Amino acid sequence: MKRVEIGLLGFGTVGQGVFELLERQREILIKRTGLDLRVKRILVRDLNKKRPLPKELFTTNFEEILNDPEISVICELIGGLEPARTYLLRAIESGKQVVTANKAVLAEAGEEIFRLAKEKGVYLGFEASVGGGIPVIKTLKEALVGNRIESILGIINGTTNYILTRMLESNLSFERALEEAKERGYAEADPSLDLKGFDSAHKLAILASLAFGSYVSSEKIYVEGIDEIDLMDLKFSRDFGYIVKLVASARRTKRGIELMVFPALIPENHILTSVRLNYNAVYIKGDFVGDILLYGLGAGKEPTASAVVSDLVSAGEYLIHKRAPLLSYPQSTSHQLKILPISESLFRYYFRFTAVDRPGVLSKISGILGKYDISIASVVQIGRQIRKGAVPIVMLTHETQEKKVVDALNEIDKLDVVRAKTKRLRILT
Ligand code: NAP
Ligand code: HSE
Repeated sequence: MKRVEIGLLGFGTVGQGVFELLERQREILIKRTGLDLRVKRILVRDLNKKRPLPKELFTTNFEEILNDPEISVICELIGGLEPARTYLLRAIESGKQVVTANKAVLAEAGEEIFRLAKEKGVYLGFEASVGGGIPVIKTLKEALVGNRIESILGIINGTTNYILTRMLESNLSFERALEEAKERGYAEADPSLDLKGFDSAHKLAILASLAFGSYVSSEKIYVEGIDEIDLMDLKFSRDFGYIVKLVASARRTKRGIELMVFPALIPENHILTSVRLNYNAVYIKGDFVGDILLYGLGAGKEPTASAVVSDLVSAGEYLIHKRAPLLSYPQSTSHQLKILPISESLFRYYFRFTAVDRPGVLSKISGILGKYDISIASVVQIGRQIRKGAVPIVMLTHETQEKKVVDALNEIDKLDVVRAKTKRLRILT
């Protein structure tokens, strides 16, 4: 049996989950792996917070953990870019194995972190950075190593999926649903990262880097969140037979790679619509394996701890066997991916116009759509006033190009009969 001393950075939702799992499952882990994983010290920001563990375990001084020769694995569960980036780099520099659940730091500084890890020959685990408890990273790195990955489509943010589910199924306001997600520990310290789609983009950057073999920066991803979603649109979409979900999509096409995060109308009979609350799901298409679907809890203390501990075990095994980590994160941008602008993508669309209830309005709107070659699939005027003298007109289109939609809606929103900015959502087919 080998004892492995761990330095934990952060003791919030995930840090506490990791500590509890290691305590509760110690015997199982020893039996299965021969490793006795022990948390020796824990870095926090505030020593005065009430904690369920002896005070001596905690410190606010990173150097005490870094310079402790008995600590061989550092597990970063602080979140955010700094000081997480610096702590990870310094841990790697000093030859310690590292594990992180921090997708923001990997999406923004992954290139330098992975380059240094390779140079120093240390293990770097990041299973919990995407999909909470779902083993999507090890699936891409190990189980699908023989495949060329064609596409990835997923719901990879628990907070937004929880909010959309609670709003539609329980008529909750956006604000109340967000409060619940925060109370349950799903949201990031800065929840706007979840709501504006950036957390999904960070995760998609990590998945795309592994899938396409070249470092993808999250800045290259088209991102739209759910912060402007209205309950009315969730309900109208359902009336048309669709459920709205925040999706992340990466796809090889003949012209280049499409990378995007956006709220999408998904047909009710699509399996992704049964992914509710803080569950996540990721479809991966490989050229040999075909389609696979991974599903599970994408956020929260226990599922995330499960993923972190799988990396702690891998780090422990690496310490013993020094087996080179399989297919590490791509270190270079040398083989540049051509990333397509969203303006060239093709979608079907949902539009909600807010227009005065008067003869001829629909023909003005459809005239402009016709001018841009946008074909209408169905349209309803819902007789509920949403503004003084204005009613919603909901329309679904056939497939068309994004840039035509942008130009057409710019023109439509300038009509004197249109009283608010038109809501536009893409439909997943
Ligand atoms: P959290 O609850 O906000 O906890 C953060 C912890 O880090 C706290 O213990 C805090 O100390 C400590 N900390 C913050 N800034 C620090 C600093 N400058 N120096 C030292 N310690 C500092 O966060 P979390 O939800 O556990 O998330 C941790 C990481 O896991 C993030 O990268 C997150 O994206 C990722 N993740 C979270 C989930 C989830 O469901 N929550 C799922 C997957 C991945 P104090 O206790 O003193 O405040
Ligand atoms: N804030 C993230 C989410 C945590 O809601 O999915 C899991 O990465």
